[in-house]
Amino acid sequence: MRHVVDFLVIGSGIAGLTYALKVADLGKVLIITKSNEDESNTKYAQGGIAVSSNDPQSIESHITDTLECGDGLCNEEIVRMTITEGIERLKELIAWGTKFDKNEEGAFDLAKEGGHSENRILHHKDITGKEIERALLEKIHQHPNISIWPHYFSIDLITQHHLGEKITKDSNNIMCFGVYALNQKTRDVDTLLAKKILMAAGGNGQVYRTTTNPKIATGDGVAMTYRAKGKIDNMEFVQFHPTAMYQPNVSPSFLVSEAVRGFGAVLRNHNNEEFMQRYDERGSLAPRDITARAIDNEIKQSGEEYVYLDCTHLDRMKFLDHFPNIYDRCKKAGFDLFEDYIHVAPAAHYMCGGIAVDKNGATSIQNLYATGECSSTGLHGANRLASNSLLEALVFSHRAAEETKNTINATAINENIPDWDAEGTTQPDEMILIMENRRELKAIMSNYVGIVRSNTRLQRALNRLHIIYSETEELYKKTVISSQLCELRNVINVAYLIIKSAQAQNENRGLHYSLDNVKHSTTLLNQ
Ligand code: SIN
Repeated sequence: MRHVVDFLVIGSGIAGLTYALKVADLGKVLIITKSNEDESNTKYAQGGIAVSSNDPQSIESHITDTLECGDGLCNEEIVRMTITEGIERLKELIAWGTKFDKNEEGAFDLAKEGGHSENRILHHKDITGKEIERALLEKIHQHPNISIWPHYFSIDLITQHHLGEKITKDSNNIMCFGVYALNQKTRDVDTLLAKKILMAAGGNGQVYRTTTNPKIATGDGVAMTYRAKGKIDNMEFVQFHPTAMYQPNVSPSFLVSEAVRGFGAVLRNHNNEEFMQRYDERGSLAPRDITARAIDNEIKQSGEEYVYLDCTHLDRMKFLDHFPNIYDRCKKAGFDLFEDYIHVAPAAHYMCGGIAVDKNGATSIQNLYATGECSSTGLHGANRLASNSLLEALVFSHRAAEETKNTINATAINENIPDWDAEGTTQPDEMILIMENRRELKAIMSNYVGIVRSNTRLQRALNRLHIIYSETEELYKKTVISSQLCELRNVINVAYLIIKSAQAQNENRGLHYSLDNVKHSTTLLNQ
């Protein structure tokens, strides 16, 4: 089937839904998402959204914290722009119906997380992302110009390559005309054509064995754009959240929000020592890169697989009011957090790099925008400041929508696009081959390309990845297409990009730490 719309949005998290709402008065919008409509990394955001007040000092301190956390690699102009414009974007989000918690005086109840020098994080209990999704989806359903199709898996971006032209990564004027997408119910591959396409396909934590990201986070947006020869950058900067609940057989890992440490919880090692002070004067509220590396070090020294998060001293009523979901989940896992220490360990959480975009979310491919976690805007540098990502999505989706409004009249649908070519792909899918390669890839990435890297580990990972890549491409040429096979291709592409970027980064910066690198200011470890 062929479908033609004005705007095609891939992904239904905060980035995709915001853009859709903002362009919908100009024409038909189609949002496709590979799972249920509310399934996205956004939905799992607990902590909240970091926003300054209008006070210049509040703006400056948010900028300073973001730059410091990014370890010298943020784009300062982008940081300033995002933080300043974020104040207006928050007002819109509230006007669309999102509810944030308030204190007894009626002001927003602002929380704190690692790397923040002041309380500036708006939240809805400890399920902020879920509340944002609820409000945005409600608005989306009210708009007559917006359709949302769940269970549609985007396979590849359509470019001049599909018209028979040779495209390389150095080609100028690569254009995007739409996507080929698998209708997971009928198993047909449809041709979806649009004037403007927004990639808002979220993160890629599923490249690792232990992650807080849902099963859908397989880096599809980055992988598709990479295959279409779009520019990707900063992929070495994978953020590991320091405190995922340690439950070896549970995937994804349950996140224990950093806001819990902002509320006063402290990390302890197996000697009951509050060890973080040895690594950073900010203690348990140091930025994530430092905290995750410190925990990794403590784990390696003790031979245990987790450290402890101590909440036993916290005010019970206030805690239950702010973190009811975390309390319940801990209880179900066997921890009464007013009596027991929670077992926690780092887990892959957020990709700071991604599809390179300009200040309007435009990628290197014409008519293709990218916003949200799959994009790389320059805001996060080498390490994202906690709760800055929802803000980034709002600001860049707004800017992408503004640019779309200014350029839409000069953009036409390309009707000459051929339909999907399934020739030769007749072999039934052998899930065992796909799933086993997926498991192997996760093991490689976790063992060799995790929090602490080395030249040998990275090279070993690359060697192993080449084998998985060749096997999978061979399978792809012959096998009936499935979302599992496409996801495997995507995680392979993303793993490759992470490894190659890590090999090219010869300084220890933020989230990238190699035992062989020149020592930058980042905390030194003895492993
Ligand atoms: C958290 O609540 O700790 C996660 C927030 C974030 O990743 O920004």
